[in-house]
Amino acid sequence: MKILIHPDAERAADCVAELIAARLRTEPATNLGLATGGTMEAVYARLIAAYRGGQVSFAGATSFNLDEYVGLPPDHPCSYWRYMREHLFDHVDLTDTHLPHGDAADAEVEAARYEAAIVAAGDIGLQLLGLGANGHIGFNEPTSSLSSLTRIKTLTRSTREANARYFERFEDVPRHAITMGIGTIMRADEVVLLAYGAGKVDAVAAMIEGPVSAACPASVLQMHRKVTVVIDEAAAKGLKLRAYYDEVHPDGGEALL
Ligand code: GLP
Repeated sequence: MKILIHPDAERAADCVAELIAARLRTEPATNLGLATGGTMEAVYARLIAAYRGGQVSFAGATSFNLDEYVGLPPDHPCSYWRYMREHLFDHVDLTDTHLPHGDAADAEVEAARYEAAIVAAGDIGLQLLGLGANGHIGFNEPTSSLSSLTRIKTLTRSTREANARYFERFEDVPRHAITMGIGTIMRADEVVLLAYGAGKVDAVAAMIEGPVSAACPASVLQMHRKVTVVIDEAAAKGLKLRAYYDEVHPDGGEALL
């Protein structure tokens, strides 16, 4: 794993936006795997600015989001479809966009259709990930199969509580989501994970330095060939090998080889 530690969340978001833009410049037809959550808002804001400045284009790209709440139609204010339109799709030249349909008549059929669509597209080129405070990626909660495909997951109470800020009442937060599986994510050519803030400190330590375990789904990324983990100081506080990461990538910069 490439571990890039930045002084603050702003610099970490700059770094991730640049990694995505760089991939689109060298490979315009990339299949982007996109994520939602508060963490990604700063990344998308930077990508919109880069697009407006003529530094990046999404015209040749295709996107597949990680997940969607079961039961929410695309136009629901709390759906991830809506999040993506507000934070990215409505502001850039990305037109070939995909998310699971949370209001499908049969969510299991929809999950299988979504997995097949990703396979048919040739799998994900660059997968962007956030990190749940409990170590989840997408909505793959602790104890998820490390080889799972897109399917329905029951959300933990802690995840529903963390996401309740987007809903009027806690009871409105859906109990289930359709999420890319861990096996789906692991087929991506490249993974870029962004996490910042003290709330992620335990999950970051378990992901990078803990055992590979379904107890912390993100720890499976230790088995991926090309992962870049971008974090800030606050999220890095629990890392035992911190001095080593600083030596390899001072200030989150490129490797000194
Ligand atoms: C959400 C999403 C994840 C996201 C994570 C962290 O529930 N399903 O894709 O990475 O939880 O969210 P945040 O960035 O708001 O902390």
